[in-house]
Amino acid sequence: MAETIFVLNGPNLNLLGKRQPHIYGAETLEDVKVLCEDACLPGFEIRFVQSNHEGDLVDLIHRARQEACGIVINPAAYSHTSVAILDALMAFDGPVLEVHISQVHKREPFRHHSYVSHRADGVVMGFGTQGYAAAVRHMCQLVSGT
Ligand code: DQA
Repeated sequence: MAETIFVLNGPNLNLLGKRQPHIYGAETLEDVKVLCEDACLPGFEIRFVQSNHEGDLVDLIHRARQEACGIVINPAAYSHTSVAILDALMAFDGPVLEVHISQVHKREPFRHHSYVSHRADGVVMGFGTQGYAAAVRHMCQLVSGT
């Protein structure tokens, strides 16, 4: 049976392609889902979810404890604010990779700190939406030990 990688997306990422395209690009979240599915190595599958609600993301991370071998997460604005999401990720045993489409360190100072980075095993930022594909590929390699 295929192992499942959760790809979780935080607030406002449902507007990808329409929202500040000069920062986040023209691709939609549906395009990113296809990118992630294509980046998956044999033996793995993606569960791709977006929520604008912190508690929903916490619940999904709890579900990942039973259902996922690893988590790729773009927590969006919650990266910079959410101890609750950090604590949920701390309770997850598998690898966690954090993705940001933009290079947050080149942006406003309030984006320079990420709570999620205290838990993440790797962080990809500034690669545009291709960062998701890199993270999914790396996750498959981490989990399969290749
Ligand atoms: C983001 C960066 C965050 O600072 C921002 O709040 C987002 C998207 C990114 O992918 O570059 O919503 O996580």
